[in-house]
Amino acid sequence: MSFQDIYGVPTKSRKLFPKSELFYDMGSTANIGYERDPEKHSAKRKMFAPSFSAQALRDQEHIIHQYTDIFLLQIERLGTQPNGINITEALEWLTFDIMGELTFGESFGAVREAKHHYWVSILLAAVYGASVAGLRNRLSVLKYIIPLLIPKETAKRAAQHHALSLRKVRHRLEIGDANGREDFFANIIRNGNMGEEQLTSEATILMIAGAETTATALTAALYFLGANPSCLSELRDELSRAFASSKDITGDRTAGLPYLNAVLEETMRIFPPSPVGPPRKSPGETVDGVFVPEGMYVSTDITSLHRDAHNAPDPHAWKPDRWIGEQGKHGKPYTVPFSIGSRSCIGITLAYLEMRIVLAKIVYTMEWEFVDDPGYWPDRCTLTQLWKKARLEMRFRRRAYS
Ligand code: HEM
Repeated sequence: MSFQDIYGVPTKSRKLFPKSELFYDMGSTANIGYERDPEKHSAKRKMFAPSFSAQALRDQEHIIHQYTDIFLLQIERLGTQPNGINITEALEWLTFDIMGELTFGESFGAVREAKHHYWVSILLAAVYGASVAGLRNRLSVLKYIIPLLIPKETAKRAAQHHALSLRKVRHRLEIGDANGREDFFANIIRNGNMGEEQLTSEATILMIAGAETTATALTAALYFLGANPSCLSELRDELSRAFASSKDITGDRTAGLPYLNAVLEETMRIFPPSPVGPPRKSPGETVDGVFVPEGMYVSTDITSLHRDAHNAPDPHAWKPDRWIGEQGKHGKPYTVPFSIGSRSCIGITLAYLEMRIVLAKIVYTMEWEFVDDPGYWPDRCTLTQLWKKARLEMRFRRRAYS
């Protein structure tokens, strides 16, 4: 299968397909996601690994609960109004606040303020513009044209963003290990081998890879559950059987809930938060049995793979049941939302922890309805490097016994 061939771990008989400069082009401050040199990348990955261990994440779980509980109060307050709340944006407040705590040692105050922080708004705008900027490397003539197409204002905002990030990194360095947390930079600061500029670059990838993707999965899950009331009540029943109160909801206890996990898997199948196939360079290897000469660019698109009827029958229908029970026993779909191999997602355990807790708490404590008919929401989202998600207005009401 081409995905396995391109992204899988190299073996004695198969060479690694390294990341390609078509997309991963950052110069000397390449961060963990953009580093193309396999050896440098592996060293960097080892430095970050302790912060992503199950134990380190268990120690940080209280941060997820702290912000989720304030978030629930906010959606209850704002979501009871006639126009409801744009849950697409609200979930970004939450995930960027959590990721801010884990990266910079402080949140953006977005959940409390019920609005995006300036830093996040600029970052999101830059991500949505990244597809245009990324074209620069594809055709040499575009190298000269694209910078002319990028407005001066964008360049100014990028500079402001960098200055703000640097300030936040300095603040994190000042905290040192005084917060007693094994957060993303704890091990790196202990080793003292990364300068401010490099840390800023790492912080940016951690924020965008960690917060935007998780918000996408959660928004899509709420949409699909809202559009499929029988699935929503099945999930509610599972949660009511498992928990006597929302205070009992924990990462460990949600990990074993089959329906909750099926909802997340099915959501990421049909709407993968990291939707494209990141480009790789052939080392002179076969892909799906066809020899690809060295230096050729290759990729397999994650969304297309997930929505292929050979892989999941009736692929455009959202059906959590295909993951569990009798259907699951007869073969689950093959999905790769976190990719595979040495460049797969380092944050996978954190992502599941966060998604399970947030989704379980929302479903357990809230009733919701769409303000207007949202149509098929995924079709209103546009694909850039990540999804540029459409608004989704919902009204919320706290459930009586939560
Ligand atoms: C539902 C949530 C998430 C999804 C679907 C997801 C998906 C992915 C995918 C597909 C990749 C590979 C990208 C590539 O090959 O260029 C990746 C890499 C990465 N992800 Fe995630 N991710 C999620 C959450 C997170 C979280 C919570 C973090 C924590 C900070 C994180 C941090 C990273 C980093 C640093 C990389 C680069 C890893 C490397 O190159 O070694 N992600 N993710």
